[in-house]
Amino acid sequence: MEMKRIVSGMRPTGRLHLGNLHGALVKWIELQDRGDYDCFYFVADWHALTSEYRDTGQIRDFAHDMVIDWLSAGLNPAKSTLFVQSAVREHVELFYILSMITPLAWLERNPTYKEMKTEITDRDLSTFGFLGYPVLQAADIIMYKAYGVPVGVDQLPHIELTREIARRFNFLYRGIFPEPEPVLTEVPKLLGIDGRKMSKSYDNAIYLRDRGGELKTKVLSMFTDPQRERKNDPGRPEICNVFTFHGIYTDAGRVEEIDRECRRAGIGCVDCKKILLASLERGLAPLHERQDYYLARPGEVAAVLESGNAAAARIARETMQEVHNALGF
Ligand code: TRP
Ligand code: SF4
Repeated sequence: MEMKRIVSGMRPTGRLHLGNLHGALVKWIELQDRGDYDCFYFVADWHALTSEYRDTGQIRDFAHDMVIDWLSAGLNPAKSTLFVQSAVREHVELFYILSMITPLAWLERNPTYKEMKTEITDRDLSTFGFLGYPVLQAADIIMYKAYGVPVGVDQLPHIELTREIARRFNFLYRGIFPEPEPVLTEVPKLLGIDGRKMSKSYDNAIYLRDRGGELKTKVLSMFTDPQRERKNDPGRPEICNVFTFHGIYTDAGRVEEIDRECRRAGIGCVDCKKILLASLERGLAPLHERQDYYLARPGEVAAVLESGNAAAARIARETMQEVHNALGF
């Protein structure tokens, strides 16, 4: 029996942080562990190139580090196919064919495109590749005839575009591509240590690699309820980022107690953060252990990708055969 396929990718543009872990990876792992999906997860290194084309040197290292963190977080190569986009050249081939049938207007009205073009000012993104980003993404997805694509809300326009492009291909040539569904993640809203969105560009992220003194410094400097200037000011856990983290990492009984004590100024923020630090250290310990394991065994990581790349390429070649037939080539 064919299992429904799940496909998702991540761009290797920096180290993974807790926002990435809880925003995406946890969902990927959950879908993998359900056992009724055939999951394909890949390093979107060509997509990284759209913004990093001037400085490509780091992409490779970020990719390697990212896969180590995937494995450490619980992605299991015995259950999921883990591969690298650029190792399966068919993605570009399909991208190019799809680009022939994608009206420019669909790309120009893409909200992510419009947003990034105004937001990112430190580099020139008026390139063909950047405009075509969602076409490559569509190729990534329909190549494997994906049923579901786990993504955050920001990616919804790209999945909708993928559906439109698949529909157009099916209409023009032959109905070979199913229209994928987005699989939305309800994400706990984890902010960076300064209270803004967690992002490497704000320098406020807690990374999966952070431990010991580094982790401690970050946790102890986290923003809390700004109304709690003094220890005997009552706090509002519902607006406190430290409390959101407790919700994930601290056991439920303790979380209730913190909630109660914070409201009656029975606990200070420093003590509250110390509890969080201990919870984080405990919660992330198995992940950190696996990190050490894979960091010491680059050959094992390479082997995982090699077999994933081969498995993905087999399917990609089959799909491209169908595409060529549909085009009459
Ligand atoms: N655009 C996605 C992001 O920035 C990454 C991505 C590339 C992707 N190809 C994909 C996600 C295919 C899902 C499916 O997060
Ligand atoms: Fe936040 Fe904890 Fe301080 Fe309350 S006591 S404001 S939950 S850090």
